[in-house]
Amino acid sequence: MNKGIVKLAPSILSADFAHLGKQVGEAEQAGADRIHVDVMDGHFVPNISMGPLVVQSLRPVTRLPLETHLMISDPDFYLDEFAEAGSDSLLVHWEGNNNLHRTVQRVKALGKRVGVVINPASPASVLEEILQDVDQVLVMTVNPGFGHQHFIHTTLPKIRRVRQMIEEIKPGCDLEVDGGIDATTAPLVVDAGANVLVAGSAIFSERKGVVAAMERLRAAANESK
Ligand code: DX5
Ligand code: ZN
Repeated sequence: MNKGIVKLAPSILSADFAHLGKQVGEAEQAGADRIHVDVMDGHFVPNISMGPLVVQSLRPVTRLPLETHLMISDPDFYLDEFAEAGSDSLLVHWEGNNNLHRTVQRVKALGKRVGVVINPASPASVLEEILQDVDQVLVMTVNPGFGHQHFIHTTLPKIRRVRQMIEEIKPGCDLEVDGGIDATTAPLVVDAGANVLVAGSAIFSERKGVVAAMERLRAAANESK
């Protein structure tokens, strides 16, 4: 369905943290379009990962945009800090945010790209009124919190619905998917309308290395065209 270029966003959650700069460099060389940074607070999701310091450390080692996926309660308190650390885009969840419009406007005021994220159980329809204000939508294809989870197939019809909404309301808005994306599921999500694929374990936990893993994923993503 999607005839555009599919972009890859490696998620460093599955990277080797002892060699983070090196791994990001490999992903950049292999043609990554952006680096996906998963921020977890042990409250919004049952896991703790990384904060602004990691963004700050990565900023000088890559030219790629750093997109920050905020899986935290009260993201408003941390937007400035991540922006200052060097995030290029801030992705905030619809779930648990009573003032999403305000959060989105604050990210825009910081001069950053903004995306809204929806969990597997949240319907596409919650995006309808906010879509015109965002640069991208992220549809979670697993429940957020951990890497290496199985892709949830019931999210596919929702990806199609979001693609339709984007074409009607905000053409040009990125439709990104996150969770369980590998060579098997990539063609399915691209066929449903996704144009940006986040992948953690399929890129950083592959035995053959980051470059080979990204080649394989890109080839699979283009299969559906
Ligand atoms: C999950 C994170 C994902 C995660 C994806 O909560 O938002 O970005 O790193 O990992 P994989 O690709 O292994 O499912
Ligand atoms: Zn993520």
